[in-house]
Amino acid sequence: MTPKITVSPTLPKKATDYCRIILTEEPQSHHRLIEAVDGSVSYRMGVGKWSEVTPRTFRTIVRSIIQAAKGHRIEKIIIDWQTLPFPQLESLGHEWIMSTLVENLILANYEFTVYKSKQKDYRGVRDIAVIAETHTAHTRGHKRGEIVATMTNKARDIANTHGDDLTPKVLATTAVTLAKGTPIEITVLNRAAIKKEKLNLLHAVGKGSHHEEQFIIMTYRGKSKKGAKLASPLVLIGKGITYDTGGLNVKPAGHMHDMHMDMSGGSAVMAAIVAAAKLGLKKDIVALIPAAENAISSTSMRAGDIVTAHNGTTVEILHTDAEGRLALADALSYSARFKPGAIIDVATLTGAAVVALGQQASALMSNDEALTNTLRTLGERSGDLVWPLPLWDEYKQSLKSARADISNIATSFSKYGGCIEGGIFLSHFAPKGVPWAHLDIAPRMESIQSDKLAKGSTGEPVRLLVQFLETY
Ligand code: BES
Ligand code: MN
Ligand code: ZN
Repeated sequence: MTPKITVSPTLPKKATDYCRIILTEEPQSHHRLIEAVDGSVSYRMGVGKWSEVTPRTFRTIVRSIIQAAKGHRIEKIIIDWQTLPFPQLESLGHEWIMSTLVENLILANYEFTVYKSKQKDYRGVRDIAVIAETHTAHTRGHKRGEIVATMTNKARDIANTHGDDLTPKVLATTAVTLAKGTPIEITVLNRAAIKKEKLNLLHAVGKGSHHEEQFIIMTYRGKSKKGAKLASPLVLIGKGITYDTGGLNVKPAGHMHDMHMDMSGGSAVMAAIVAAAKLGLKKDIVALIPAAENAISSTSMRAGDIVTAHNGTTVEILHTDAEGRLALADALSYSARFKPGAIIDVATLTGAAVVALGQQASALMSNDEALTNTLRTLGERSGDLVWPLPLWDEYKQSLKSARADISNIATSFSKYGGCIEGGIFLSHFAPKGVPWAHLDIAPRMESIQSDKLAKGSTGEPVRLLVQFLETY
């Protein structure tokens, strides 16, 4: 549940109903619940030396507060913020600190219980009173943190929904629901419209399923007037594969069951554009979500099929499980019509990204050094860590097809450098002369223990995308 968070210099009424969280400079292993004679409870948590708290450890500390409260089934907590000096955070400013505090409280409190038949009687922390001054930086940070975290949790809800409940059509109606109350306009192309627009690669991925592929277009005008041309919009593209069986090159057991999350890039960009609208950013933004189910049937694309992409490139489909890059390729060339200022695509694209980086960071590939540096910095600042890999020309050889212009995996069927190979394929379809970055978020699709988050979707990289939209 989303807890109610108040920020105020005074204690809440009936403060004794709350558990007071007291952070101390003791080692992180020191946790102590203290019950006073009047029945009030406090919780002492060691976080280590104030001077050693970094932006990274700060986020973990905040999540630990919620984890501890959950462990003791505590519903109401007070966090005294006035006396906490974290020197390494000061340069980031009060707004960042308050936003990061609020974000991580809400993210850590999230649980996905839709498919549990019995609701628990304890459902997490309900009420958080942050004792802090109410100057404008705090107020802004509080509001921002709430928007960013609730939208991130929406992205997690969508990604955690299994493939039978979340088909491409449902993903499209979810986008509409999510954007309610914002000025975002949504257009959805169905299978017939996708064929008419010659988004043939997207159709090739989706045509094996009776759940028709959809192309979701979300437009937010924070700058231009309705009817006018978009003012060099930032374009976000998210992979929306609602279930990835691998297609006729079917995935082996143990590699398929979590592939309902193969639309995590799509749900993240949806959540990010809605967050941007709720924050009232003065920019034009477009989100494109090519959505399809990579299914197995007699109408599925075959290995060896050759398909003409939206931009005219002929693609030899050597492997039907490399479907994400096909759907994204058409979205990338489609985006050229918006005359984008920059493009970021987000996709659970390759298992090879997980091999390269482990589950700690997403892979970043780009045709623009400044954009690479910006995303790395914002990754650190937001908590959605990204790490660069090269897109050198030397890698391009491997996709040269004998039968078509390009193949969707290495013609040698090489297993090496698979994450870069995905990026190289996409680079052929990214509009020329536009800064573009590709985030392979397969490593961050599911949370790991050190995240201190509920099992399942992490909702990454919504926080990074919002910071990018705010600052780029
Ligand atoms: N959706 C998968 C990638 C994936 C794997 C995401 C594990 C998250 C966790 C993608 O469509 C895929 O199947 N990629 C193949 C590419 C290969 C056929 C070149 C892969 O990684 O094996
Ligand atoms: Mn696949
Ligand atoms: Zn996939």
